[in-house]
Amino acid sequence: MSTSSGPSPTLFPSSDNDPAIEVKNLTTGYRGKSALQDISFSAPAGKFLGLLGPNGSGKSTLIKAMIGLLQPWEGTVRVLGRRPQEVRRRIGYMPQAEDIDWSFPATVRDVVAMGLYRRAFGMDRFRKGQEEQDRIMAALERLSVDHLAESQAGELSGGQQRRVLFARALVKEPDLFLLDEPTAGLDARSEQEMLDLLSELATNGASIVVSTHDIGCANERCDLTLFLNRRVTGYGPPELTITEKMLNRTFEGHVLVMGSGGSSLALAPHNHHEHSDAHGDHEHAQHSHALHGHDEHGFV
Ligand SMILES: Nc1ncnc2c1ncn2[C@@H]1O[C@H](COP(=O)(O)OP(=O)(O)OP(=O)(O)O)[C@@H](O)[C@H]1O
Ligand SMILES: [Mg+2]
Repeated sequence: MSTSSGPSPTLFPSSDNDPAIEVKNLTTGYRGKSALQDISFSAPAGKFLGLLGPNGSGKSTLIKAMIGLLQPWEGTVRVLGRRPQEVRRRIGYMPQAEDIDWSFPATVRDVVAMGLYRRAFGMDRFRKGQEEQDRIMAALERLSVDHLAESQAGELSGGQQRRVLFARALVKEPDLFLLDEPTAGLDARSEQEMLDLLSELATNGASIVVSTHDIGCANERCDLTLFLNRRVTGYGPPELTITEKMLNRTFEGHVLVMGSGGSSLALAPHNHHEHSDAHGDHEHAQHSHALHGHDEHGFV
């Protein structure tokens, strides 16, 4: 996908041959307690990558590390061939629903416009020209929420808010989408529409990372799947990773019902994930749980 629509040149052009994501020996977490241990993987551009793992396994943490909200304690994270902070304007990020505070007054149009903020020379600049308004409306139309443009975002349903957040990521026309449970809370039709759009974006060259609890959907839609449980438990195309052994390893034995072709999978009820080998809170205390570069409402 093109990102050449902005007025400023790309300050840090990266080579087309760079992997979209390259994570090496990443360990990070919060308040001295690690949430991810020694994560390594690399994904080429133009792929649809699914992150899977139980609650608390580190999916959101990995996404935050990939957008530079969390710094590595050890190891490195490169996206689009650069440090995340250097290429943030080429990344469309959608936080997990729980991370957003919708209590502030803003219309849907305002929220999507945030995707067009330019951070330059130490100040945010938003160009309110017709071109930007057209892009905002096109993104809202793409997600079928254009009729809500002047509504208060905080007064929408959860599914409508998901679509607005996706429109906010989409309006940037990013090269990389980092989407934290984008289809959570969507009805079946909306979920398929969003997944169709993601598949189309990947076909057009964008790199897509989606965290999800929907193993069947990952099986059908993803080019690559990364299974996590604080560590990488498996990585590769779904036909190789989505096996009973892998699911048991990742979900700690609390799996599974499998339908024909592996398209229908369910997790049996299980206890909450416990961290057994958390770091002590001494050496990494300085990292606290501060997330760098997001505002008080959870937006980046
Ligand atoms: N802001 C935070 N401060 C302290 N600890 C956190 C914070 N966010 C996450 N954690 C901890 O990090 C671990 C990984 O959490 P994370 O949110 O990455 O999991 P997840 O795989 O996204 O889970 P879910 O499926 O519930 O969204 C958990 O133990 C969680 O308690
Ligand atoms: Mg999460």
